[in-house]
Amino acid sequence: MRTGGTRRDFLKAVGVAGGAGVLYETMGALGLAPTPAQAAVTDFAAPTAADFTLTGRSAKKVVILGAGIAGLATAYELGKAGYRCQILEAKDRPGGRNWTVRGGTELRDLDGQYQKARFSEGQYMNAGPGRVAQSMVTLDYCRELGVALETFVNQNADAYIFNENAGPMSGRPTRWRTAKTDVYGYVSELLSKATDRGALDAELSADDKERLLAFLRSFGAIGNKSQGFAYTGSDRRGYSVEPGAADEAGTVLGPAPSMTEVLASAYGQRFSFELGYDQAMMMLQPVGGMDRIAYALAKAVGTPRISYNSEVRRITDLPDGVEVTYRDAHGRERVERADFCVAALPPHVLAKIPHNLGTAVTSALAYPVPNSVGKIGLEYKSRWWEERDRIYGGITPTDMDLDNIWYPSYGFHGKRGTVIGYYNTGAHAQVYSQLSPAERTARAVAQGVKIHGDVYRTELATSFSVAWHRTPYIEGGWVSWPSRTSGEYDLLNRPAGRVYFAGDWLSYFIAWQAGAFDSARKVVTDLHQRVMTS
Ligand code: ALA
Repeated sequence: MRTGGTRRDFLKAVGVAGGAGVLYETMGALGLAPTPAQAAVTDFAAPTAADFTLTGRSAKKVVILGAGIAGLATAYELGKAGYRCQILEAKDRPGGRNWTVRGGTELRDLDGQYQKARFSEGQYMNAGPGRVAQSMVTLDYCRELGVALETFVNQNADAYIFNENAGPMSGRPTRWRTAKTDVYGYVSELLSKATDRGALDAELSADDKERLLAFLRSFGAIGNKSQGFAYTGSDRRGYSVEPGAADEAGTVLGPAPSMTEVLASAYGQRFSFELGYDQAMMMLQPVGGMDRIAYALAKAVGTPRISYNSEVRRITDLPDGVEVTYRDAHGRERVERADFCVAALPPHVLAKIPHNLGTAVTSALAYPVPNSVGKIGLEYKSRWWEERDRIYGGITPTDMDLDNIWYPSYGFHGKRGTVIGYYNTGAHAQVYSQLSPAERTARAVAQGVKIHGDVYRTELATSFSVAWHRTPYIEGGWVSWPSRTSGEYDLLNRPAGRVYFAGDWLSYFIAWQAGAFDSARKVVTDLHQRVMTS
């Protein structure tokens, strides 16, 4: 305590002598406040109430537009220092695209199509984000807020790969393990033969060649030199008869297709998915639904600080503050006045809201391109994919316009389960969004039957679909920047007067909650720095 008191006195003296700017830098040097160099999200330090008491300043009022992850995180972090935040949210719930659909959830889309989810108790679909990588800051918020996590099975050797139009293997669901064994096997065979024949002598020393051959033998499960390095299948492919007791050695699944068939199958092009930094196993999801994160943040921010059903109509930057005009839950026009504004809405939505921030801001907001993204949840009366196919979570990618099927990573061995029957983007998402909800279900089921057979239709209980590009106040799954160096990205990563922008779209983790958290942290750091140095 004595040391703390001494440090406090010292800081007070610096503050009096040098003003807040010098004080703040001193605090940074002592590790008590973020300096510009520390503003990098990895070193984020939340503002604290002490930052103000030490300088005789008071926390400011901040109006935040949008209770998505970026808006909530901004209010949460600023709130730690006592900033008075008010969030205006057009929807009746927190989370934005972090949206978990359960029984009773309603959606009326921009085309006027209405759905009410009929999922049974305990069943849900994460309509937006559904997986979190281990490296992501999202997990730090889960830890801090007490959001329980469980494994999300992103990659499953026993899930399928299914292509309708890829050579002689078309129409045959193939397990990842089988596809991978064949691709690795043939590639290893070819490379071993080339190496052994001296085709790579210009690249490899004698030692290199030996080591490469040793690697390929293990990697591809191929024969040795006397066997011509041949790939002839292996038990890595799986079994048609499982190994068992006593004399049952099992029957290895085979024969392997030919090299030509395997190359034509295009299976090899699927494997990069699991190497992606943001997609690699192992991954996580909150227990009970992704929206546990949104609700935990909303709770920490405090109910009175979030105005739901409040649609922003105008943003006016003033010399000494910001005015946000909005329509409240009763349809009345109201004005929220604050010292600063953090606009955490999707850019294409913000672009349509009148403001006085200048035409460069308007065109920058309209510059990123929203992507079409769709998802359907199919609740089944039984977990046939576990019982029959022995698939526990994971993903089956396809070349059909459903793109991907996700098997649930929660509720293993439960009575019912909810499969994501399509998760698609671009033109495929548009095909589905142009259909009625019932037609979407019919199309998704007809495609799923090709992989899983009639059970995919007969066991279906109910469904719910979302087309993010046709969802009010969101209007896109995520955005793409045609360029990040043409000025727009930089412009919006800086405040326009007293208005700051935040969201995953202002990060290098677009389409991830981590991007929203990172962006919120940057804005919190910038804003607090400004308050402390002005
Ligand atoms: N982050 C999104 C996903 O994992 C794109 O599918």
